[in-house]
Amino acid sequence: MAVSTAVAKLLEEYKRFAPITMNELFAKDSKRAEKYTIEFENLVFDYSKNRFDEQVLQSLLSLAEEHHLKERIEDMFSGKKINVTENRAVLHTALRNFSNNPIYVDGQDIMPEIRRVLAKMKSFSEAVRNGSFKGYTGKKLTNIVNIGIGGSDLGPYMVTSALKKYWAKDISCYFISNIDGTACAEVLSKINPEETLFIVASKTFTTIETLTNAKTCREWLVKALGNQAVANHFVALSTNAKAVAEFGIDTNNMFEFWDFVGGRYSLWSAIGLSIALAVGYDNFEALLKGAEAMDKHFRTAPLEKNIPVLMALIGIWYNDYYNIHRYGVIPYDQYLKFLPSYLQQLDMESNGKSVRLDNKKITDYATGPALFGGAGTDVQHSFFQLLHQGTEPVPVDFIIPAVSQNEIGKHHEILLANILAQAEALMKGKTKEEAAAELRSAGKDEATIEKLKLNKSFDGNRPSNMFIINKLTPYNLGMLIAMYEHKVYTQGVIWEIDSFDQWGVELGKQLALKILPELENGVSAVHDSSTTKLINKVRELRSAALSKSA
Ligand code: F6P
Repeated sequence: MAVSTAVAKLLEEYKRFAPITMNELFAKDSKRAEKYTIEFENLVFDYSKNRFDEQVLQSLLSLAEEHHLKERIEDMFSGKKINVTENRAVLHTALRNFSNNPIYVDGQDIMPEIRRVLAKMKSFSEAVRNGSFKGYTGKKLTNIVNIGIGGSDLGPYMVTSALKKYWAKDISCYFISNIDGTACAEVLSKINPEETLFIVASKTFTTIETLTNAKTCREWLVKALGNQAVANHFVALSTNAKAVAEFGIDTNNMFEFWDFVGGRYSLWSAIGLSIALAVGYDNFEALLKGAEAMDKHFRTAPLEKNIPVLMALIGIWYNDYYNIHRYGVIPYDQYLKFLPSYLQQLDMESNGKSVRLDNKKITDYATGPALFGGAGTDVQHSFFQLLHQGTEPVPVDFIIPAVSQNEIGKHHEILLANILAQAEALMKGKTKEEAAAELRSAGKDEATIEKLKLNKSFDGNRPSNMFIINKLTPYNLGMLIAMYEHKVYTQGVIWEIDSFDQWGVELGKQLALKILPELENGVSAVHDSSTTKLINKVRELRSAALSKSA
């Protein structure tokens, strides 16, 4: 494919800029940090420790303009069917629209329905929390078990974990996602059926993992309390009322959402019921309002001052021009330790695509990077070695609240010192001359210095973004999550892909359905020789192990 004007300019920019280091940029411009920091509400976004200068940035902004980003943002907010392969609007933003503005899908204002479900979530979560909605035997429901997978699990799991400090004292939340029976067994071993509310969360209500886990939990409950107890102990969150009824959950106990809410964008919908139950509806609403604030910023801020847009453009600069296809997200907050797993689905399921919107295969540029991460400082002692001295740089997002939810002694200052030091170290590096001087002043002999100085040196020039929020509140968390959603969308627009479908998860599911009966009855379909051998081996090992334990 012929390269566009903006891409051609960026390729030129890359040649010009590649030899320049961030240390040089900072030395040249004492205002760099100030210039490339944006403060928005409770969030500080410092993107100055990235490999760009004003000329590169302007070229990246031209790339966004070439892709009509402003119009494409409006397309999303106004309900245009931008999920083209599924012919759906993409309106997770409508779920946090607290203005009085209507939003139309197929000529119908969707806001009244959204408000109706929010009101139902509010009254139900309050009734469970104050004990007026009881279990079958009259006990208060204090164990909340969310059964779902992917977006029907990761969002509520990450958010409830992040907001642990806001949980009602007498509520415990559990999450069952994996089809591995261990996931069910471990949760069921900890809870009492009389005090447990199961939430079956599935957009489609056809997902094998969720339905199998829900069936096991229902059998467990019925065994303890009888069939009539199901109505007091099971609710469903879904778009599929028919399947919910077929499963045996009264549709009065169903909280609806709609096709215009993608799975990985669904925590703001009824899928957030476990969040409302854990932290209270008001806090759930604060989460939505934080997201709404970021939505307004994304929709109205000029591109050069727009946080998600800048994050996206910087990411594209590394991905497509530096050919770095990895991306780290490191929250320095124990409560945010599941944020990277959540973002893995958001980013990689959205932008892990290789077919363009015009139905052509992508052959000449890369789309979504592989995202990984974990909580600092833990990860400093696992994968940071590679970040500092691996052969390829990994752009990193650092996230930290200025104040901890648990201000104990000096813990938080040490944490802050670490995150700031890591970003500085990645950028500054250490020359082999500096390493040698350090060794010399530590009294090492010249042979040792010669042997160690390269190993103890750091290339530096490794980029990072820094995000500081004042505190990890529901509102700020909503803002952060929405910020990542919009970063992902912006990149999808520039890569010209559909960020809202996920056909790539289908093939494995189809093949698993074929293999399942073969594990019991022997191989009948044609597989490659490795798969056939593995199926037979697994059958042999299982039969030996199960007959021994019988
Ligand atoms: O992994 C594929 C996927 O469709 C995700 O997009 C979704 O979040 C997950 O499965 C669960 O789907 P459902 O909510 O329909 O059970």
